[in-house]
Amino acid sequence: MKKIKLAIFDLDGVITSTTEEHFKAWTLLFIKHFGIRLDQNLEVYTKGVSRIESFKVLLKHSRVDLDDMKLIECLANEKNVIYKDLISEFDETKICPGVLDILNYLKQNNVKIALGSASKNAPYLIRNLKLEDYFDYIVDPTHKRSKPSPDIFLDAVYHFGYNPEEVIAFEDAEAGIKAIKNANIFAIGVGDEDLKDADIKLRSLKNLEIPILESIIRGN
Ligand code: G6P
Ligand code: MG
Repeated sequence: MKKIKLAIFDLDGVITSTTEEHFKAWTLLFIKHFGIRLDQNLEVYTKGVSRIESFKVLLKHSRVDLDDMKLIECLANEKNVIYKDLISEFDETKICPGVLDILNYLKQNNVKIALGSASKNAPYLIRNLKLEDYFDYIVDPTHKRSKPSPDIFLDAVYHFGYNPEEVIAFEDAEAGIKAIKNANIFAIGVGDEDLKDADIKLRSLKNLEIPILESIIRGN
């Protein structure tokens, strides 16, 4: 591996835990409009997947026929209003364990830091978590294909003009790990899911010891 120049982070489930809030917002929306209580097992299909794609997956699994795109967008916006309310009090206490140590290490070692999230709420959350100063670039997911397409990660790579071999990326979702691997980037999987395609898999970022990160960054 080459020396690493850029680290790309997913947001939800890596930097902060919003999975519960995202799914709760969908649950409230489905109860209100369709009288359906979403099965918790469906949560996994929405992880790392854009708002509209998540909605479509949930509609399909709930056997709700809805193909009016205007209505889909309107209800997805309503979910976002509920979601924004649920995360309105997120602050720096909501940063996942281990994240700050890693960000500080990367900064001190001149590794660029980017955010590669499918969430349009990412800039808002990064601001509220008081992490803005760490990020050299935040990918705008608008008009990008949803993960597992590599688009979001490649956007960050091309922004800096680097080669995918000079990049590492962190993800908690299967779709996200696939997106990283589709971009030919070294993938660090985080969290409880299997993430079998990840190059390294950790339960939590607090388990990523700095000497290990150091050897990854140096390309040893
Ligand atoms: C993240 C979450 C997904 C969510 C997506 C879009 O990837 O893991 O569950 O659907 O972001 O989020 P947004 O905030 O734009 O609705
Ligand atoms: Mg995620």
